[in-house]
Amino acid sequence: MAAANVRVPVHTADAILKIEGACRIVADVLQHLQEYVVPGAVTLELDAIAEDFIRTRGAEPAFKGYEVDTKVYPYTLCVSIDEEVVHGMPSQRVLKEGQIVSVDVGVQKDGYFGDSAFTFAVGAISEEKQRLLEATQESLRLGIEQVVDGHRVYDIARAVQTCVENQGFSVVRELVGHGIGQHLHEEPPVPNFVPGLLHRNRYPNVRLQTGMALAIEPMVNLGLFHVHTARDGWTVYAADGKPSAHFEHTVVVDGTTPRILTEW
Ligand code: MF3
Ligand code: CO
Repeated sequence: MAAANVRVPVHTADAILKIEGACRIVADVLQHLQEYVVPGAVTLELDAIAEDFIRTRGAEPAFKGYEVDTKVYPYTLCVSIDEEVVHGMPSQRVLKEGQIVSVDVGVQKDGYFGDSAFTFAVGAISEEKQRLLEATQESLRLGIEQVVDGHRVYDIARAVQTCVENQGFSVVRELVGHGIGQHLHEEPPVPNFVPGLLHRNRYPNVRLQTGMALAIEPMVNLGLFHVHTARDGWTVYAADGKPSAHFEHTVVVDGTTPRILTEW
């Protein structure tokens, strides 16, 4: 089915340079944070480190002040621990050995956005958590391989989902990746699962074209895919309480070679 009614921005070379600029800072933040994501770290302190890093580079945190429905997100990072899937809020919480911690960061620079997430191991982690991290990262890599001119959004979705489910894990359905550019979230939605027949209008199977920019972000649960939102209105957590991982890259369609802009 053609996706006739969605308009996906195709960015000019100049716009892509700006997206790249934002993405470079995003990647550098994650790399910088790596050494701070250790047992004993306070997640609000990670947030402060990230915000300072971004502002020092002449950019702004993209999530801070971001409005979803009537809520305003108050932090630079989303920090989601263990069974928290995404949108965990920095707090006085102290990281402990054995946890897995997804750190998600967005940056706005010169009117354009970059977005990426990485799930870190805090010290030594269990074998099953390690397998979850590796499977999620692999699914992202396979999804990115589909970011080729002429392929479609469902090619990405299928690659991610197949990888995850073949390893016995599950992909979250409630949240999806997205186009990115002059806004943090643009068309098209990028699901990590091939939508069932009745949901295909919601997730148009857009044909990828050179100049499109996508944030691909598999959220993978060790147990079942169902999630709930916490009473804080933000934190999304696995309904069965089992661990969840999240990796995200901003990628540009450029002929036959996907260009990952948030690699570090
Ligand atoms: N990477 C996440 C997303 O694309 C981060 C958004 S957090 C928010 O949805 F707080 F800004 F909403
Ligand atoms: Co995103």
